[in-house]
Amino acid sequence: MQKFIEGLPKVELHLHIEGTLEPELMFAMAERNNIKLRYGSVEEVRQAYNFTDLQSFLNIYYAGANVLQTEQDFYDLAWAYFSKAHAQNVRHAEIFFDPQTHTDRGIPLETVINGLHRAQQDAQNKLDLSSFLILCFLRHLPPEAALRILDEAQPYKDWIIAVGLDSSEKDRPPALFEEVYSQARAQGYLSVAHAGEEGPAEYVWEALKLLGSQRIDHGVRSVDDPELLKYLTDRHIPLTVCPLSNVKLRVFPSMKDHNIKEMLDMGLRVTINSDDPAYFGGYMNENFIAAQRDLGLTRDDLYRISLNSIEATFLDEPHKVALK
Ligand code: HPA
Ligand code: ZN
Repeated sequence: MQKFIEGLPKVELHLHIEGTLEPELMFAMAERNNIKLRYGSVEEVRQAYNFTDLQSFLNIYYAGANVLQTEQDFYDLAWAYFSKAHAQNVRHAEIFFDPQTHTDRGIPLETVINGLHRAQQDAQNKLDLSSFLILCFLRHLPPEAALRILDEAQPYKDWIIAVGLDSSEKDRPPALFEEVYSQARAQGYLSVAHAGEEGPAEYVWEALKLLGSQRIDHGVRSVDDPELLKYLTDRHIPLTVCPLSNVKLRVFPSMKDHNIKEMLDMGLRVTINSDDPAYFGGYMNENFIAAQRDLGLTRDDLYRISLNSIEATFLDEPHKVALK
């Protein structure tokens, strides 16, 4: 099974580029940028990755991102991810980035996006790995801040396919971001949103109805609402599920308790993704392997998930066909 999974052509639809910062690279960047880390060694960093919920992870994840300073840092971060993804037979990736995490500490958006974009071009040319960028609004910050970053992103619109919504979900309903999504869609962006990770099924409804979200990131709490399940199934709305993340952040007590197999069997368009692989213990193959092992996914299930991911991309039809 492991060989089968490794050989399966894969597409990644839920990946935070800041979540691919491996401790080794964090140390290298801290050194070259003269930044003092609160950890003494790579091992100490890994030991700190002991999360109890989403917020306990986010605190460490945002602190880690401080080492990213120059365009080359963003290039190196993304290039390291693309190399890893390529080695795991990932053919296409739609990647989140959190501009506010950087602009709020004085790093210009231009620095962030030029570095990421250059790595994307190299991934396409050298690895035959295509990718799109998704600009995420941080939902713990006010909606007005999201509107400001949308304005700032205007000059780079052609390099960004969609907007997304991430960070702390509890008590931060999608409804707060209706206006910024409406403006983004009017400007031609596609849209996705994190919903139903720690938050309720109601937030998935809001993401769909108020934000026009075309995919739901996580969405595992949808199982609490039969009407929502029917809506998602009838319209083939993709859920970008992240098994290792969900166990690490205690959305499920263990992988055996995860509901991805149940949702797949219900006919939902579920996909497997890695979320923040440097923090959650694995990239695409490790996520597939852990879910397969503990939930008894069959080869047919794995093919179905792989096909679901292709259908769920923002690629046009000929490019989807080319991936099959
Ligand atoms: N949920 C919300 N925000 C995030 C996540 C996540 O899983 N990863 C990085 N930012
Ligand atoms: Zn996520």
